[in-house]
Amino acid sequence: MSRFWIDKISGLKPYVPGEQPTSDSLIKLNTNEHALPPAESVLAALRSASGEALRRYPDPTASALRSAISAAESVPPDQIFVGNGSDEVLAHLWFALLKGRRVQTLDTTYGFYPVWAGLYDAVLTEVPVLEDFSVDVDTLKNDDAAIVLANPNAPTGRALTRDDIALLADSNSDRLVVVDEAYFGFGAETAVPLIADHDNLIVTRSLSKSHALAGMRVGYAIAQPDLIEGLIRVKDSFNSYPLDALAQAAAAAAIQDTQWLENASREVREVREVMSAGLRAIGFEVLPSQANFIFTEHQSLAGRQIFDALRARDILVRRWDKERIENWLRISVGTMAQAEQLLVVMREIVSAETG
Ligand SMILES: Cc1ncc(COP(=O)(O)O)c(C=O)c1O
Repeated sequence: MSRFWIDKISGLKPYVPGEQPTSDSLIKLNTNEHALPPAESVLAALRSASGEALRRYPDPTASALRSAISAAESVPPDQIFVGNGSDEVLAHLWFALLKGRRVQTLDTTYGFYPVWAGLYDAVLTEVPVLEDFSVDVDTLKNDDAAIVLANPNAPTGRALTRDDIALLADSNSDRLVVVDEAYFGFGAETAVPLIADHDNLIVTRSLSKSHALAGMRVGYAIAQPDLIEGLIRVKDSFNSYPLDALAQAAAAAAIQDTQWLENASREVREVREVMSAGLRAIGFEVLPSQANFIFTEHQSLAGRQIFDALRARDILVRRWDKERIENWLRISVGTMAQAEQLLVVMREIVSAETG
């Protein structure tokens, strides 16, 4: 606290990301990074960057990257906005489109939404997810406030269908619907094809999970040009060059490498099934996940107890001291070897604690 702080800063409750330990000896399954290293084509793009590309400012409009996204998503480049991670894209979106407005989200979802609502004075309603953590589409539909959803949702991994999103967008064409698809690429349907017919829909994406580029910080939004123009105005009033030259080159290569994406996604889904089945066999409930993590609770052991026991054995997962989910653990899908190690340790913990 400093006497120079404006009042707003004193009242901020910033987002706290999952721990990034410096030791490599941990099995790190707490922040949903991809289990695999990024594509070789991405590393090649980084290696071939020239000194000239670094001497000069990067392309402020990231046109080559937006062309690559345009080809991959079959949407025109003027419907694409790129930013420094989807967190930055979302922050600009809250500022440009939601500041001071009424917004609905879920009571169990990405913890950054209430932070942006607080930062930008949006009036947030947190609609409770149902008992099985599925989304109460009717309640969201019956209120005219804007809607912000993560799909698949975090930390539950549950996904809505494209028809559900269409229902929400169609229920009131004057309401903005934001679909945060940070975990797209692991089985869920995308809402992007709805954008052509819906000027009230905006979809955000991340390269952090699906493309194994969390360290690169690249995200994007897709929407009709007027919404995108709003984001560009905020970005150009804040930082003209949010994506550096290396990030633009690497992200374009990643988007173009559809073969890597397909293989990597298949591998994550296979490991997700092995983890889920192995945990269910020893008394865990595991929600059906369309993301690169699972959300799980043991029928007789407390979440805190399991979290601590895993940590003592160098396995890091994520858990929140929050009503409704305090007993649940969110576990990122790792490599097959990490999943097997996790299951070995979980079996030890469960048999030691339950006798
Ligand atoms: C639901 C959701 N949205 C957005 C993000 C931000 O992703 P990034 O800024 O790495 O693109 C995350 C990160 O964990 C997330 O869980």
